[in-house]
Amino acid sequence: MKSAAPQTRGTTDHVAEFSGVSKSYKTGRVKFQALRDVSGRIPRGCTSYIFGPSGSGKTTFLNLLGVIDRPDAGDITILDTPVRTLSDSAAADFRMQHIGYIFQNFNLIPVLNAVENVEYVLLRRDLTRAERRDRASAYLEKVGLGELLKRRPGELSGGQRQRVAVARALVGEPSLVVADEPTANLDSRTTREIVDLMRSMQEELKTTFVFCTHDVDLVTGPGSLVHIVDGQITHMERLS
Ligand SMILES: Nc1ncnc2c1ncn2[C@@H]1O[C@H](COP(=O)(O)OP(=O)(O)OP(=O)(O)O)[C@@H](O)[C@H]1O
Ligand SMILES: [Mg+2]
Repeated sequence: MKSAAPQTRGTTDHVAEFSGVSKSYKTGRVKFQALRDVSGRIPRGCTSYIFGPSGSGKTTFLNLLGVIDRPDAGDITILDTPVRTLSDSAAADFRMQHIGYIFQNFNLIPVLNAVENVEYVLLRRDLTRAERRDRASAYLEKVGLGELLKRRPGELSGGQRQRVAVARALVGEPSLVVADEPTANLDSRTTREIVDLMRSMQEELKTTFVFCTHDVDLVTGPGSLVHIVDGQITHMERLS
């Protein structure tokens, strides 16, 4: 099958670098500082695990890493591209080309069935419609949903929806996959299968994964551990 992967981007030994990054949310007049002066690097070609209590800023951090949101202050470089100053449309292009995102609540499109939810992320790739469909079906097959291609999200269980979200994040074979609790709704066998799939992608394509998780059993080297507490990185450690 023709590869959907865009050219590997960036040459440094890390996929992301943060420097003095802060992010706050405003609700009415109340401003809440979700990340405070965060600095660090995410190594390339391995898996980094983000740990921290509920509300500590993990999803906020992943949204910056996935170029879904921008910081209020500080600089972020992803795949050698300074992303803070990208226009919204340039950021969307950058995301489509280089980043796969598994959202905490999946964010599937309710009116599209499983295979349509996966194939639309390939729209801007140099693939025919049939090639997009084949590739999306192959990835749904890999996550064990080959029989359910035509089901809409509302007709799938939580774990099945999560697997569609995994297939959608991986189908474009991006350089960086950002995953917010990617196995939270899966049984241990399916978790193992998904982790094995990601690992084989990592070996084959040198994909970098960043997982936000509560599941310590997921952690294996090489990679790094990042602990976030109250919007600050309290601990970073390389795993070999
Ligand atoms: N859109 C928003 N508007 C206002 N406050 C927000 C918004 N998103 C997040 N927050 C607040 O920012 C803080 C960090 O939220 P975040 O979602 O990053 O936490 P988290 O570590 O991912 O938590 P969990 O483990 O529960 O998913 C929380 O206190 C949250 O209430
Ligand atoms: Mg979260």
